Amino acid sequence: MYTHHNNALRAEDIGKTVKLKGFVAKKRDLGNLVFIDLRDQEGITQLAFYKDNDLRSITTGIKNEYVLEAEGVVRERSSKNPDLETGDIEVDVTSLRVLNTAKQTPMLIQDDTDALEDTRLKYRYLDLRRPYLKKMMKLRHDITAATREFLNKENFLEFETPILTKSTPEGARDYIVPSRIHKQSFYALPQSPQLFKQLLMVSGFERYYQIARCFRDEDLRSDRQPEFTQIDIEMGFIDQEAVLDISERLMAHILKTVKGVEIKTPFPRLDYHEALRDYGTDKPDTRFGLKLKDVGGVFEKTGFKVFQNALENGGSIQAINVKKAADEYSRKELDRFEQEAKKYGAKGLAHFKIEEGALKSPIAKFLSEEEAQGLLDKTNAQDGDLLLVVADKPSVVRAALAHLRNLLGKERNLYDQDAYDFTWVVNWPMFEYDEEDGRYYSLHHPFTRTRDEDKSRIREAPCEVLAYGYDLVVKGQELGGGSMRIHEGSMQEAVFDVLGIDAKKQRERFGFLLDALAYGTPPHGGIAFGLDRIVMILGGTDNIRDVIAFPKTASAHCLLTDAPSAVDDAQLDELGLKRGKTDDEK
Ligand code: AMO
Ligand code: AMP
Repeated sequence: MYTHHNNALRAEDIGKTVKLKGFVAKKRDLGNLVFIDLRDQEGITQLAFYKDNDLRSITTGIKNEYVLEAEGVVRERSSKNPDLETGDIEVDVTSLRVLNTAKQTPMLIQDDTDALEDTRLKYRYLDLRRPYLKKMMKLRHDITAATREFLNKENFLEFETPILTKSTPEGARDYIVPSRIHKQSFYALPQSPQLFKQLLMVSGFERYYQIARCFRDEDLRSDRQPEFTQIDIEMGFIDQEAVLDISERLMAHILKTVKGVEIKTPFPRLDYHEALRDYGTDKPDTRFGLKLKDVGGVFEKTGFKVFQNALENGGSIQAINVKKAADEYSRKELDRFEQEAKKYGAKGLAHFKIEEGALKSPIAKFLSEEEAQGLLDKTNAQDGDLLLVVADKPSVVRAALAHLRNLLGKERNLYDQDAYDFTWVVNWPMFEYDEEDGRYYSLHHPFTRTRDEDKSRIREAPCEVLAYGYDLVVKGQELGGGSMRIHEGSMQEAVFDVLGIDAKKQRERFGFLLDALAYGTPPHGGIAFGLDRIVMILGGTDNIRDVIAFPKTASAHCLLTDAPSAVDDAQLDELGLKRGKTDDEK
């Protein structure tokens, strides 16, 4: 064993005899004096070998990342290092053992490493030696521990549900696993434990939780991994308020325990429609204003073709008013905003600077006096303001302006980075209709319950039906989502009907659920939080790979193990599968 970690010793320990172990972070050989920075999980301690110390000859062969055991006496440093918590002391070494040697590492083991991310992921075990990732892993642990502590105290039971299972529709593709015993049959890895947690409610467990691994084959982004972890919760004999209350107290507990931050509960609530109207997104960053304004009404009779076409095609025209920004952006910078808007499908971005009560813009000449005045009134624009306007399909307008809003909010420092703006987005519609696919999709998932007053209209007016669904949003990120569930078979069948899942498919895929609902299912509901995303928010990173010990790349590749990889023909044979063509062979 060791007597201390390498971040433990302070000035008050001077004179103590200690034994330390760790990796060599750095060696400085000054001829008659050698220093070694010894690093372990907790930090760094400087080992010193002075002129008359015979051990100096052993240090000659020692290189970075060698594993050492050192005994010695703590002494005051002659030149202190204020950047290091142990910077007041060093250990004058009296006995030294090399426990292991190390090859030269392919990357520098330090926080400001210049290694490419691919190198870091290939040698992830070395990457994880860096203090930054150590801190993130510790934070992740603290958050899970606080979660368990809180939920256990609230009488939740922790469960494990199957990984080899049947598909649960959460909107992504499934990862499937072939069965050897049942040839040509497949398990699916769970996209979430959704159906199992509902079945546990049928079994009469009233408070379930699981720190659950979920698997989704979907397009990856900086906040998405193919396998990720949820804090998954379900409650029986309760209503929506109970789920929101537990969630708020859980978040408050995590922030208090892990960060020492007090947050105010209850969290404000925004209607789904309000969120879309004011922020253009269902995950609004509410730390700042800069809200979207619908200015379509101003241009109903406009002669300006771009706006006219958009309205004629059922589109909308919306604006954001960037206060006192007119003088700050050159033509070039406005072009940059246009390019940003185009990333989200916008065909262009109109901009207007307000000068002496008038619009200054290349397109001002196409607008009538009433239209110009109407635009000023609608957006409450004053001299010095900058209006950015998009005309297109409503979904494109919202996506483009929501993106610009977030960009401008950040660039213009419109908010306090440290503020936690926890907000519920509530009253989600049950379905949305996809014109291209010609079918309805669930906004949450097909097990979400409609509001009581909408129950009879599920089949008749699917798009008008609202659900008991809720998302928790903070800093413009979706942290969690959930709903009250359907507990009657008849409502579940109606929802499947709207989704175009016919009776035969319903039996095949969800027969077990429909059966279970018939045996006295209590009203129930729950929520799942993205654990990785909670760690990202509290750790202040936008890269999900920073909070997962062994993550995959954006193309779902594990560079460390080189998974996924080919298997032998014999293995395929055993599974009753035949090799198809790879993309390159096609
Ligand atoms: P949902 O699909 O909204 O709900 O997922 C819940 C939360 O999980 C996180 N999340 C992800 N995190 C990282 N990578 C991903 N690929 C990923 N996908 C989702 C998000 C999200 O808010 N069964 C329902 C929950 C319920 O109704 O109780 C569900 O899975 O933070
Ligand atoms: P154009 O007619 O394409 O030359 O565009 C004239 C101006 O209108 C330019 O400033 C474009 O950026 C802007 N514009 C073009 N399409 C749109 C649109 N869909 N919404 C808002 N502005 C647009």
